[in-house]
Amino acid sequence: MAEIFLKNAWYCAGWNHEFHQGAGAVIARKIAGERLVLYRTRTGHVVAFQDRCPHRQAALSLGRKEGDSLRCMYHGLKFNSEGICEEIPGQDNIPTDCRVRTYPVIEKNSWVWVWMGDPAQADPGLICFSVGPENPNWNMKISKMHVETNYLWEIENLADLSHIAWVHNDTVGGDLAFSRIKPKHTTTARGTHTSFWVYSHRPLGAIRHLFPEDARIDSNWEIDQTVPCNWNMRVRFFTPGTETEGPSNGELMADTWTCQSVTPCDDDSVDYYYSWGADNASEARMPGLSDLLGGTLDIAFNEDKVMLEAQHLRRKEMPDFKMTRILHDAGPSMILRVLNTLIKKENEIRPVLEPA
Ligand code: FES
Ligand SMILES: [Fe+2]
Repeated sequence: MAEIFLKNAWYCAGWNHEFHQGAGAVIARKIAGERLVLYRTRTGHVVAFQDRCPHRQAALSLGRKEGDSLRCMYHGLKFNSEGICEEIPGQDNIPTDCRVRTYPVIEKNSWVWVWMGDPAQADPGLICFSVGPENPNWNMKISKMHVETNYLWEIENLADLSHIAWVHNDTVGGDLAFSRIKPKHTTTARGTHTSFWVYSHRPLGAIRHLFPEDARIDSNWEIDQTVPCNWNMRVRFFTPGTETEGPSNGELMADTWTCQSVTPCDDDSVDYYYSWGADNASEARMPGLSDLLGGTLDIAFNEDKVMLEAQHLRRKEMPDFKMTRILHDAGPSMILRVLNTLIKKENEIRPVLEPA
């Protein structure tokens, strides 16, 4: 598979606490096929460079922070926070083309976002909605994971939650009712919205012990998925009502958000940044709920990791294998269509944006 990514998009490079001002905090990332090095300056801004010294392509992530500058530790060239070379040891003349490509960076809701395309088109309004751990109304627990799979398989996984009935029986699933969900999918400007209710089902595996044995609940799932692979879901749990269509008439027990960003490193791996937590009222009703939900995602995403890594090996072995379609493929098809359309449009109109 050729590496094809949407370039004019914000990609999550990590949680902001990873980018501290310490001397050693020079962070290497691979995003959408490109190697980056990021560090936080003394003024508090995170800068992102191509992780490739213009001299002989040494890794700048092996470099050393000096004030707001970064020095390549191969032959000592030093670059300021705009990527411009300001020192070549042993040489007075600095060629004007001796500079490193830089990328726009924005921090929002404790996530660090990098724009991988044309800097002139870096619109902060395109950063996806999220509820961050700094939000005083919510108790978001954050984490991250590396998965050896293609990000398109992660998109499919997130766009079809019927799999929680099977992959996540003891964590974020727990009832075969999830394999019979009939979600309503609609397209949005840069993604999809998915909505469904599940009635009188067993509580999710990870929180079942908080309920009486044989307890049943209703739940509502509202999901916004945006390109490249951002996924935000509000899940609310209710006491079981009498409705079997539309909103439950049960009583709200817990209101939760989970915010997730999957960043493709290349065709074979992703960095996955995620959170889950309850609002203050829910946390007061069910103390410890947010910690439980946050910790559960680490376990649940390891369950996905096992499935997606094995699937990735097989899809690489037989890329032309004819796969069967089922009803649950509607959501994945819709979001992949949005992504494909944007990638196609970008490649038709954009000049080559790769650095010279
Ligand atoms: S490769 Fe960086 S200074 Fe030579
Ligand atoms: Fe999953």
